[in-house]
Amino acid sequence: MKKMTALSLTLTGYALIVLLSGCAKNSDYMPSAGATGESIFKEACANCHSPVNGKVMILRPEMANSEAIIERVRNGKGFGMPAFPNLMGDSVQMLADYLLENAGTLPEKAE
Ligand code: HEC
Repeated sequence: MKKMTALSLTLTGYALIVLLSGCAKNSDYMPSAGATGESIFKEACANCHSPVNGKVMILRPEMANSEAIIERVRNGKGFGMPAFPNLMGDSVQMLADYLLENAGTLPEKAE
């Protein structure tokens, strides 16, 4: 009986780890044909990134260029920001252009 409990606790632990790392890691979002940067942002990003002062989201200065945005969207970060492996080529480029035009940027840190 004791053995069973330890085993099922271990299994529950593994299941939790798989669940936790599974849910934030990868998004299976797929842009529809004719999607634009704006439609992708509204469908895939706006549920987590909300507007601030009329800007669709706020970027840190080091993130405010298309290479950094594309890298972050494709690879995600930590537990919070999922990776979007299906956003590639034109779709991720349109999304980066949309953000560069419509997102705000935090001021550079004075150092
Ligand atoms: C499930 C919630 C969620 C979704 C969906 C999401 N993000 Fe994020 N995003 C986050 C979190 C949380 C962070 C902060 C992660 C960190 O830096 O540790 C983040 C960070 C970012 C950053 C870096 C901002 C900065 O200045 O550091 C960019 C750019 C970004 N997200 C773009 C997007 C785009 C574009 C999409 C849609 C394709 C998207 N996110 C979808 C949660 C999300």
